[in-house]
Amino acid sequence: RTAKFKELLLKEFHRVLMGDSKVFTSGLDVHNTYDVKYDSNSPKKSSREEVMCALKSVELRTVTADDEPFARLGFKIPRAPLQEQRHYNTCAVVTSAGALLGSELGEFIDSHDMVLRFNNAPTENYTESVGSKTTFRVLNSQVVAKPEFNFMEDPLYRNVSIIIWDPANYTSTLEDWYHHPDYPLFPIYKKLLDRYKNADVHLLNPQVLWALWSVLQDTSPYRLRRNPPSSGFIGLWFALHRCQRVRMFEYVPSARATRRCHYHAPAHDAACTLGAWHPLAHEKTLAERLRDNRDVQVFQQGIIDVPGFRTITC
Ligand code: C5P
Repeated sequence: RTAKFKELLLKEFHRVLMGDSKVFTSGLDVHNTYDVKYDSNSPKKSSREEVMCALKSVELRTVTADDEPFARLGFKIPRAPLQEQRHYNTCAVVTSAGALLGSELGEFIDSHDMVLRFNNAPTENYTESVGSKTTFRVLNSQVVAKPEFNFMEDPLYRNVSIIIWDPANYTSTLEDWYHHPDYPLFPIYKKLLDRYKNADVHLLNPQVLWALWSVLQDTSPYRLRRNPPSSGFIGLWFALHRCQRVRMFEYVPSARATRRCHYHAPAHDAACTLGAWHPLAHEKTLAERLRDNRDVQVFQQGIIDVPGFRTITC
């Protein structure tokens, strides 16, 4: 049953990636929203070791208090980096996939030293499925900028460390980005830093997104959408920097896979799991290759287990 499911899933990823790739080769792809440049002669990386080392070489860079225009404009960005640069033994990265609902993985998730969650995914009322502990959140800029997420007031975003990402154009400076973010997050970020003096909230340097995208493209035989990786992939990469072991939940879909997009909302959309805007199908293919746990745990329980960057020498 596991072997059959795995075969079907990998075929499905392949089908999605072929579909995307065809759009490029047919010349229909006129959209390059972020003006992404890619050298197609860049050497392909295929072995697990090469992929791990390529990801490890993407440094964790956040906007600092000394970066312009943020310094000049008085952003009180904390000088102490995220959670004092702490390293953890075991980490849980919890996607928001609908398949987590009813999984009863909550207790196991909470047993990890660090738990990372995404965007507005709640734990209240879902603790049996996803646990209750949160150490980090990775947020896209919509969560910060759109009033319906209530970022300034909602307790979901207090007393946790937060990394916010928003794409800049491929060659943009921080100054360019400040004037043309995807969503208007900067005034809210500034207000937050003024109001909550100890907030451990940071902006991911947007160049990191394209460095990660390049690793994705370097490891794919298909041409990928020129959009940033999903929050999920950013969270996995961050955790690999900080943890000895990373367990990620329902990123590589298990036999519990459902059309439900999020465990915390009833809407159905299969593209959430396979990818519509982000190069998600390739992110997941890659994550599946990096894990070292058994097929049955991956495809029945929805858990991938990946050794952290510190365990490898590049
Ligand atoms: O939808 P949202 O971006 O808030 O979800 C957080 C992350 O969880 C996504 O970026 C994606 O990596 C992952 N996810 C998934 N399958 C789903 C929903 C989300 O892998 N069905």
